[in-house]
Amino acid sequence: MTSDLTHQGLSFDDTPLGFNTLSIHLGNGVDAETGAIRRPITLANAYALPYDPSDINWSSSDVNLYTRNGHPNQRYLEAKLARLEGAEDAVVLASGVAALAATFTTFLNRGDHAIFSDTTYIAAYRLLNQILPEKYGIETSIVDTFDPANVAAALKPNTKLVHIETPANPTLKVSDIAAIARLAHDHNADTLVSVDNTFNTPFNVRPLDLGADIVIESLTKYINGHGDALGGAIATTKARTNEIRFTAQVNYGGIISPFNAWLINRGSVTLPLRMRQHNASALAIARHLESLPQVRFVSYPGLETHPHHDVAVSQLARKDSGFGGVLAFGLNADHDGHNRFVSKLNVITSAVSLGHDESLIVFLGEDDERQYLYPEAFHRGFFRLAVGLEDTDDLIRDIDHALAEAGI
Ligand SMILES: Cc1ncc(COP(=O)(O)O)c(C=O)c1O
Repeated sequence: MTSDLTHQGLSFDDTPLGFNTLSIHLGNGVDAETGAIRRPITLANAYALPYDPSDINWSSSDVNLYTRNGHPNQRYLEAKLARLEGAEDAVVLASGVAALAATFTTFLNRGDHAIFSDTTYIAAYRLLNQILPEKYGIETSIVDTFDPANVAAALKPNTKLVHIETPANPTLKVSDIAAIARLAHDHNADTLVSVDNTFNTPFNVRPLDLGADIVIESLTKYINGHGDALGGAIATTKARTNEIRFTAQVNYGGIISPFNAWLINRGSVTLPLRMRQHNASALAIARHLESLPQVRFVSYPGLETHPHHDVAVSQLARKDSGFGGVLAFGLNADHDGHNRFVSKLNVITSAVSLGHDESLIVFLGEDDERQYLYPEAFHRGFFRLAVGLEDTDDLIRDIDHALAEAGI
């Protein structure tokens, strides 16, 4: 017999189950029909209706009805992520951007004001800086949220949402979630604080424990971890997830496919194991890069030289948490030198994205529309390196070899 208790995240005694055990067992269960100890992928678009369907709420997400309203593979993953984030509920949608857009469009109405971090993922920047103000009459302010005083100064009577991304993509700036949540809630208990936690995952930082109202993850990155499926999640109260499902899932249609939900559920089983390795390897590589004369700057919250290192340390969720797998660095090289360096790498792949098993590097900054918001060091072009799960020594040797081969 397999105990269903553990699949529900419940302990067999007074001691709660740990993050590793929960990552493995939540979202899984014994299939009632076959006895399989892995849940199947349910690919049906529609589900059988009862004899008299007249009482059915066709917008409901609580029953199996039509796959855009919600489906079993989505729900298994939602229950797991809600628990890992410490939330009452979670909604899983088609991508991280779908989750960001769902949060903004569900909770912001014409005439509301939103504050957002000066470095955010590009789609969040475009939504909040341009699309929502121009099309929907929402007022927004870009703020350097590293200093909570800047948030305090930007709060207005109609501020409905403060959205922070920390560490921010691609500058790795860190914001003080607890301080910002306190400020926002003291200002108005109804002001929501949402945190894009994609770079940290709940293994490193749990924003809801620090006072945030909503946590958003691109599941495409570390939570899936294998670079083969897009997804996004929003974890918050059940009342808010109900609103999000109605607006963004049922009526805007941002549902995740059952196959992707299943893949992400499977990938998330090894999240703690992978995050420990990403954290350790990225820190070692950041330290190594810092020691090289060819390297102009390194930005990684785990380095003592990072301006927000103390805040980053104060946010860690657990004793074995770290600072994530992404770092930014600049070389003492011109445009072509950067390209030459990348062309000489053998282990690290030149591609966008992050949180995959393999290391990925991308050259950014020279023509980024957000460049004016970045710290000065980022203006000459820089790399975002997403450290993967290869041997740390191989990654360090790859970097050193490529620098030498590129003549830098
Ligand atoms: C911090 C952050 N948030 C959101 C996203 C968007 O996620 P997705 O690509 O799953 O839509 C990304 C993608 O790189 C990201 O880095």
